[in-house]
Amino acid sequence: TEKKIAIAIDGPAAAGKSTVAKKVAEKLHYVYIDTGAMYRSLTYKVLQDNIDMKDENAVLNLLKKTNILLDQHFDVYVNNEKITAEIRTSDVTDHVSLIASYPSVREEMVTRQQKLATDRGVVMDGRDIGTRVLPDAEVKVFLIASVEERAKRRHEENVTKHLPSNFEQIKLDIEKRDRMDTERTASPLKKADDAIEIDTTSLSIEDVVNKILSLVQEVE
Ligand code: CDP
Ligand code: CDP
Repeated sequence: TEKKIAIAIDGPAAAGKSTVAKKVAEKLHYVYIDTGAMYRSLTYKVLQDNIDMKDENAVLNLLKKTNILLDQHFDVYVNNEKITAEIRTSDVTDHVSLIASYPSVREEMVTRQQKLATDRGVVMDGRDIGTRVLPDAEVKVFLIASVEERAKRRHEENVTKHLPSNFEQIKLDIEKRDRMDTERTASPLKKADDAIEIDTTSLSIEDVVNKILSLVQEVE
């Protein structure tokens, strides 16, 4: 039987990481771990509990008493409360990059993420998986696409889900979040030296999934 590996998928907002990661995990019968959902869950709790989000220590203390569970139906729970939809609101999206900039918060998140990957057989997506969380992942992918294309994809996704959506606003939000994620000092968004960059601007989801599966076959 084939050896189970770890697959790290990083890249900027709305590059297609989670869509592709889920499909790769399904094909390989691997576990999918959405680390962005963990930062979003903490941000949701910060807002819900009215924690001062400029206070790193207060945010860290909240994280320490917050259990975050990602289940295999892609549902997200904090302290047993299901918040799958709530973590995708614009309120959470607007504040998540600040919360994710705190070094002590990242340290605690990274520890939790590494524990989830101890048995391998994982596809993990985020911003710092190849550089920080799983530096020894057997396959590392860095997904990019033009900001126009990424904003268009997010916009179309919202329209399909009958959610209010404004293309220009989405584009501004994506640019702002990418800037914050790239410029922070604690494990910023960055391609790992040994990651394979895939520009998905003119690729279908299936194309990207197949590229990653062929990288997996190469290491097997
Ligand atoms: O899916 P989308 O591109 O909107 O973002 P996400 O993957 O849900 O991540 C939300 C935010 O969490 C990012 O903009 C980062 O600020 C932060 N994040 C991070 O700092 N490190 C990770 N490994 C994953 C997410
Ligand atoms: O996880 P991340 O924020 O990187 O992106 P996503 O939420 O997986 O994908 C954003 C949208 O782009 C989804 O609606 C996908 O269906 C769409 N898409 C894609 O992911 N890859 C392509 N090659 C084309 C479209």
